[in-house]
Amino acid sequence: MGDSRSRNVSQARSSVNGATGNRPAGTQAGSSGGRPGPKRISRKQREMRRKRQQLMAVSLILVLLIVILIAVLIKSCGNTKPQTDNVTTPAVSQPETQNEQGNASQSDGENNNQDNGQNNSGNSVQEKEYTGEDGKLHKVIGTTEKGYTIEEVDGVTYVDGVLIANKTYPLPEDFIPTNPEVPVTEGRSTKSLDKDLMTAWRQLQADAAAKKLNLYISSGYRSFQVQKTLYNNYVAKDGKALADTYSSRPGNSEHQTGLCFDLNSIDDTFTNTAEGKWVNDNCYKYGFCIRFPKGKDEYTGYQHESWHLRYVGTELAEKLYNGGDWLSLEEYFGITSKYPD
Ligand code: DAL
Ligand code: ZN
Repeated sequence: MGDSRSRNVSQARSSVNGATGNRPAGTQAGSSGGRPGPKRISRKQREMRRKRQQLMAVSLILVLLIVILIAVLIKSCGNTKPQTDNVTTPAVSQPETQNEQGNASQSDGENNNQDNGQNNSGNSVQEKEYTGEDGKLHKVIGTTEKGYTIEEVDGVTYVDGVLIANKTYPLPEDFIPTNPEVPVTEGRSTKSLDKDLMTAWRQLQADAAAKKLNLYISSGYRSFQVQKTLYNNYVAKDGKALADTYSSRPGNSEHQTGLCFDLNSIDDTFTNTAEGKWVNDNCYKYGFCIRFPKGKDEYTGYQHESWHLRYVGTELAEKLYNGGDWLSLEEYFGITSKYPD
């Protein structure tokens, strides 16, 4: 009777468990073998367990997504190095006033391999390349102490879009003026100067003449080779150290750019002539600056030259004029003029 009852109860339990359909397959054998069977789980507990499992699954997916996101971010950070594709809207100042400043397309010649890491300027160095409106590859090589962008185009250096040729920033040996009024056919010429410069010069000369002042260009464009001969002659005469204070080494002379000229006597006697004084006080109105102002040797690397005018456009020239206290291009932009050796 007891057995029968026990069997009936067992069958009844089996029947109940079978009805729920929730016991996992294979667990019933254990429960009928005399060993302690799995605890019965209430509906609420099952529900909670299901929710816990769902929560774990969602957490796992979230963690996976975060890991993937971090990996993608790390990868994209590693790709912000030099871009060599066409970036047409750089986050740097473009040479907006190229034409006015007579610097347009002054970029023939070879790349002089200026160092993209550190140079002797001491300025901070960036790495960025983009194709300018001139269709040429512009390499941003740094920012000056005053925050102006330094770019290199075909081996020629521009600071805030202004072509710079000095002791720190040389020109390629075969560089010639690219916007000359008269094509460059000789090693030296007072005609193969920049077109915009010549237009401004004629106005300046005419206004000076109206005041009975006689101004004339004595030295204009000079090729690398001509400058080499000149410089070597000065070195032979005065020694290298002294020659370096008044004559540029080949490749470092602004005369190779076609953007400057020397007036009249090309010596200190010009400074105190009526012409020299008028030029000092008025040339900025025509877009010229005194390239090597008095007392600025430490900035320019050269002694005062009252006769050497550089065309930069009226906007910059007025800033350099500085109310009569001429600033050099070097101090205005925060750049150096020093030979590397
Ligand atoms: N006299 C200037 C510095 C030159 O030689 O270019
Ligand atoms: Zn000169």
